[in-house]
Amino acid sequence: MDKQQAKKRVDELRELLNQANKAYYQEAQPFISDKQFDEYLAELEQLEEQFDLVEPTSPTQRVGGEPSSDFETVEHPIPLLSLDNTYNEEELNDFDRRVREILGHDDFTYMIELKFDGAAIRLRYEDGDLVLGATRGDGERGDDITRNVKTIKDIPLHLNNDYPDVAEVRGEAYMEREAFIRMNEHREEQGLNAFANPRNSTAGSLKMQDPREVARRPIRFFSFDLINNSDEKDITQYQKMQMLSKLGLPVCEHYKECSAISEVHAKITEWEELRHDLPFETDGVVIKVNQTKFRKQLGATSKAPRWAIAYKFEAEQATTTIQGITLQVGRLGKITPVAELKAVELAGTTVKRASLHNEDEIHRKDIRVGDRVVVEKAGEIIPQVISVVNPDRDNRSPRFEMPDHCPACSEELVKLGDDVDWRCINPECPPQIRQRIEHFASRDAMDIEGLGEAVVDQLVTEGLINTYADLYELKKAQLILLDRMAGKSAQNLLDAIESSKKQPLDRVIYAMGIRFVGKTVARDLAHGFQTMDALIEATKEEIEEIESIGPKIAESVVRWFGQEHNQEIVDSLREHGLTFSIEEKEQASQKLEDKKFVLTGSLPSFTRKEATELIEKHGGTTTSSVSGNTDYLLAGESPGSKYDKAKELNIPILDEISFLELIGENN
Ligand code: IVH
Repeated sequence: MDKQQAKKRVDELRELLNQANKAYYQEAQPFISDKQFDEYLAELEQLEEQFDLVEPTSPTQRVGGEPSSDFETVEHPIPLLSLDNTYNEEELNDFDRRVREILGHDDFTYMIELKFDGAAIRLRYEDGDLVLGATRGDGERGDDITRNVKTIKDIPLHLNNDYPDVAEVRGEAYMEREAFIRMNEHREEQGLNAFANPRNSTAGSLKMQDPREVARRPIRFFSFDLINNSDEKDITQYQKMQMLSKLGLPVCEHYKECSAISEVHAKITEWEELRHDLPFETDGVVIKVNQTKFRKQLGATSKAPRWAIAYKFEAEQATTTIQGITLQVGRLGKITPVAELKAVELAGTTVKRASLHNEDEIHRKDIRVGDRVVVEKAGEIIPQVISVVNPDRDNRSPRFEMPDHCPACSEELVKLGDDVDWRCINPECPPQIRQRIEHFASRDAMDIEGLGEAVVDQLVTEGLINTYADLYELKKAQLILLDRMAGKSAQNLLDAIESSKKQPLDRVIYAMGIRFVGKTVARDLAHGFQTMDALIEATKEEIEEIESIGPKIAESVVRWFGQEHNQEIVDSLREHGLTFSIEEKEQASQKLEDKKFVLTGSLPSFTRKEATELIEKHGGTTTSSVSGNTDYLLAGESPGSKYDKAKELNIPILDEISFLELIGENN
């Protein structure tokens, strides 16, 4: 590969990874698996290094869409959930049936809105002022991008009259198609790279470091949810939209109350036409149970509410040629064939690769190098090869043959049980070693900052580590010999590795990288067994007793702990003092047992979060609004209307000092 080819591939990988990031973090609709993501990232890292193509904006520089180090991370007190998708009338009818079944009656209406294809944003207004703008992040915590959000002209910095004490607003930042095209033209004139589509460009712009540059981007905003105390009242989504409008927040004019699902279908048909005339991109519609009082009863899964669903417009297709089929080695040894495509425009992006999933899939569709194929992006997701256009032509290439040996380490490939995938089960396979360590260090696992692909790659290549347990043996003297690793960054890395020892048991279990053990299963295993030792000793049957865990997972866990190689790793982790049992949350006292607090204004020495933690540590709870049930108002400087309300209701008002006295921490 020469530099020019490398550059091309690097651009392609960056685009794919940026899209994958966005799909994962902003929409919770990943189109590639974590391990595929890691594989692409590893490849990109390697090329950037080898051909000296590192750039500050490359995905390798901000691994996994983590809140960039320059933005603070914010917790979302109410998670920003995703939406389940439906693709046809039948699936939508199933949704309707489920809603009626759970509610046990038909006494509700629907609200239908457009689904804006941009980046989700959470806004927080306190006493009418915009105090926070945040990205969705992983749904539970995102980036504080307030300074960038403030540059979006659609977003009011102060709300109109009659605003609640606290207003949490959710909506979507987006770009209009025309403005996007103009911006790209302008960029090209300046010799800058064009953005792939309005969605990527919106997400990218919101995460820029320089707010003055953000201000030049044509970012727009539509709000679609308002959360405040009045939520408890019996209102409708329709009324919420009107309240948002009244507060001065932008609301898209296309929304409609529908009395039954049949009316929803009719509206969708209408909007499928309308979408082409809109100035912005929509990828479908969102159908919501209109009466908010039913939301609680309908509840949510861990990912999406049951009171709303998305209906995705039909996917767009394109035709292109397969130039080659390459193989990727995943973290768990899975070998994935990938179609290398002649670049083609599809639904606003350039598509150059598509996963072919596995050998069976290739043979089922009889896909061969040189074929013209139909590719599709189903609901804006990953490109899929749907079918071959001209399978009967002469001189076709031979059928695809899966090699017998791993493309990375030459070990013989195997199929386990009734698995469709070929695997490389060599524990020493280099890409797998690297990916296991990267997974161990990743944000949702041990969260070791500074241990990205490049560093792991070097550590492994230099023979400093062979497993993730070896990380805890690293010495500063070894680290400073690595490229781009000065004394300070070496120390930072060692500190990060050291503090990862405090990560709770469930993260350790997840980080170990057992097949089928994702975050949720790891959490269930930790809670079910309480200690690593109990888990190690558990039989398959005992593991299966945990509600969410079936035989396949249980078997995988038992198999993993049964391997000598892994036992050594576990022993080493134990010796290094990683958390091997569930720890109780520290409880300082019960002085505030059953006491309900409301916070207002800014305290001299605590943030809201710290004050809340302190209250909870002493057995109390906090709520957002003052009512007859409130026991204390904890008031700081410039308190809002809660202060007056508390006075009115004769609720004791504490300042920081008297609060500390109350809990006996006044010294
Ligand atoms: S309501 C609890 N309404 O779609 C779910 N979401 O796939 C609340 N989106 O992250 C979402 N238009 O950013 C809702 N009219 C609309 C929307 C919308 C776009 C986005 C939103 C969400 C994603 C879920």
